[in-house]
Amino acid sequence: MADERQPTSYAGIVAGYSRLQAADPVVFALAEREAARQDLTLRMTPSENYVSQAVIQALATPFMNNYAEGHPEGRYYQGQEGNNAIENLAMGRARELFGVPYVNVQPLSGSPANAAVEFALTDYQDTVMGLSLKSGGHLTHGVPDITFSGRWGKSVQYEVGEDGLIDYDAFERQAIDAKPKMIIVGITSHPREINYKRLAEIAKAAGDAILVADISHTAGLVVGGAHNNPAEYVHIITTTTHKTLRGPRGAIIAVTNKGLEKDPEMDKKVRMAVFPGMQGGPHMETIAAMAVAFEEASQPQFREYAHQTVANAQTLADEMMNKGYKLVTGGTDNHLMVVDLQKEGILGNTVAEGLEAAGIVLNRNAVPNDPNPPFYPSGYRMGTPALTSRGMKEDQMKQIAGWIDDVTKALLEAKSSLSAERIQAGEADVNERKKVERNAIIAKAAPAIQAIKEQVEALCRQYPIPLAY
Ligand SMILES: Cc1ncc(COP(=O)(O)O)c(C=O)c1O
Repeated sequence: MADERQPTSYAGIVAGYSRLQAADPVVFALAEREAARQDLTLRMTPSENYVSQAVIQALATPFMNNYAEGHPEGRYYQGQEGNNAIENLAMGRARELFGVPYVNVQPLSGSPANAAVEFALTDYQDTVMGLSLKSGGHLTHGVPDITFSGRWGKSVQYEVGEDGLIDYDAFERQAIDAKPKMIIVGITSHPREINYKRLAEIAKAAGDAILVADISHTAGLVVGGAHNNPAEYVHIITTTTHKTLRGPRGAIIAVTNKGLEKDPEMDKKVRMAVFPGMQGGPHMETIAAMAVAFEEASQPQFREYAHQTVANAQTLADEMMNKGYKLVTGGTDNHLMVVDLQKEGILGNTVAEGLEAAGIVLNRNAVPNDPNPPFYPSGYRMGTPALTSRGMKEDQMKQIAGWIDDVTKALLEAKSSLSAERIQAGEADVNERKKVERNAIIAKAAPAIQAIKEQVEALCRQYPIPLAY
């Protein structure tokens, strides 16, 4: 039954935080602004989504006051009845959702989860193989020097080919040569479904390596049946809970039946690595919110959501290609795509910032073999999870592709008219010069951008964030 007191937007939720407003008007005002931003922009960063109000409410429960070091079967503190019940509930729901015998719900986020897996199952300086960052993998899959994963283990990085695709035969040759103790594969900006069946053969051929699927980006697609579940093929699954899975910020580690067959102690090793190995007390309010999100993800409408997310991404990708843009790998199988702007000759930063001014929020991204540095890459990445949560479908994707094209053209026109003039930067610093140039381009394209921003806001009002799924 409709309740008139129920909010109908994120701004409406925050407007009800009267105690916060009274106690700290500065934080309240910032929260109000952020809620309005999320209500009225097209959030297309593929790792972002809109949680339900039930998830927000679970996060704001007194579970946050608790210390619960240990695990439900053994804690180091008293007062654990509620903690044990909520953690067991979240673990049970996650086991069911992913079809696995063991899940740890305590990792504070995706990066600590991957670190815990490496700490649990490899020794210092064992070889670990992963997909490189610029090939669409993640920092925690062994990026050398600057990450834990690249320093704890001897890192071997696989690079995609010119076409942006994974060549599984080449991956196999490299793996057989490197004989890694562990292979971790997952995507952060690769638009294709990973073939975990083939990776299982590769792991076997490379000396029976431990195979880890990091499905942080695609977990919602997996539990919604739009992508295959890797549980049958891999030993470990890690995932964040806040991307396509549409839960609170956090992560889980699952040990599969195949994992327990390989090492019957694998679940205990993972548990010990999370606590006491890497972390202290778990964030019990996050675990409560995870339980809510897992329940939501087990509903039939979540299956529709997962399939629509992919259908929307494919429509958006087709529209972009019809308009002449080059997409890495020539399309998408999942919720994201990477647009390569080398042909247009404009930086990903300029387009991402111009689009943000129009209310379309996505992120700049490197393309395979990018000649530009990671901070000024040649492309951008965008996806459909949050748009799909708002109920948008193929028609809206076509409209949005049109706006992205309009903004890009306005920026390109502004750029060509500006390049004749000399852009005077106050500083000789290259970053400062690039920033001045970007600002000048975006300022020149402002009238076109403003016209699109108004249409974007109208679409957002037409498709409010549901708050309940
Ligand atoms: C594939 C993958 N793994 C791990 C992570 C890390 O998650 P977090 O940002 O929660 O540490 C991400 C986040 O972008 C990711 O895309």
